[in-house]
Amino acid sequence: MKVICTERSQILATRLAKGLKAEIVDVKFSRFPDGEHFLETGKLDDETIIVGSVVDSDSLVQLVLLVDACESSNNHLVLPYMAYARQDKKFKEGEPVSARAVARVLSGGVTDIITVNIHDETILRHFSVPARNISIARDLGSWIQNLELTNPLILAPDDGAMAFAEDVASSGGWECDHLEKTRLSGETVTIAPKKVCVTDRPVVIVDDIISTGGTITTATRMLYQQGATDIFAACVHGVLTGGAYVRLLSGGIRDVACTDTIERGCSKISAANEIARSLRNP
Ligand code: R5P
Repeated sequence: MKVICTERSQILATRLAKGLKAEIVDVKFSRFPDGEHFLETGKLDDETIIVGSVVDSDSLVQLVLLVDACESSNNHLVLPYMAYARQDKKFKEGEPVSARAVARVLSGGVTDIITVNIHDETILRHFSVPARNISIARDLGSWIQNLELTNPLILAPDDGAMAFAEDVASSGGWECDHLEKTRLSGETVTIAPKKVCVTDRPVVIVDDIISTGGTITTATRMLYQQGATDIFAACVHGVLTGGAYVRLLSGGIRDVACTDTIERGCSKISAANEIARSLRNP
C-alpha cells in the first residue's frame, strides 16, 4: 500500500504515510501553456490511499486527474475537506446541489471514501461508493487541553454546531453551550450563550468551518462585554477567506487553531491520526 496526494494536501498526506508506515509516491505537478493541469506519478502499488482536499476548483481538477492516473490500483480516497459542501440543497429553483455534483465526480475510480467532519453527513449519500465520515473533535480537545485554561466554556456558534462542540467538550469534561442571537430592535442584536454565563471565565468557540470569521468576530466582541476573560477559536477546516485570520486576531481572539485538512500557518492540529485509525479499522 502506498499514499499519494494532490499539491494542497502534502503535509497531511506525509503525516498519514508516516502513521501508516507506508511509502509516499512522488508526483510531478505542472500545467500546460494554456493553464490546464497535468501531473505524472511515480511508481504505484496495487493499493493506494489518495489524499486530496478540495479547497477550490483547481484542487478539484488536480484530484480528478490524480485518481485517473492511479487507475491500475485499488484506490481509497481520503477527502479531508470538501468545498462546495455548504450548497447541499437547492435553496431556490435553478440552483445546483453543488455537494451532490462534486460527490458524483469524486466517486469515479475509487473503491471507498473517507471524509473528515464533512459539513453535513447527509452529503455522504451522494457518493456512489461506500463513504464514511470521521470526526477529529477529540484532537481539537487535545489542543484546548494544552492551553491549560481554568474552567473553560466550549461554545458552538449556533445550535447546528452544538453536537460537534459537545464532542470537543466531552474530551476534556468541560461545560458546553451554544450562542444565540436575540433581536432587541430593528438594528440591535445581542449574541450570548443560551444558558451559561461567561463572566470571569475563558471561552473557546469551536466550529467545523471558519470561513470569513464574521460569526466568531461579532460573538467575541459581545462575549468580552459579558465578562469573558480570554477567547480562543478552533475549527476543523480553516477556510479563512478575505482576511479572516487577521480579523479574528484583531477582534480579540487570543489564538486560532485549525487542522491540516486545509494546510495553513495556523494548522496546529493534525487529522492524520484519526484518518490512519479509520483506514486501519474500516
Ligand atoms: C456554517 O454552516 C458553518 O458551519 C460555519 O459556521 C460557517 O461557515 C462560518 O462562517 P463564517 O466564518 O463566514 O462566519
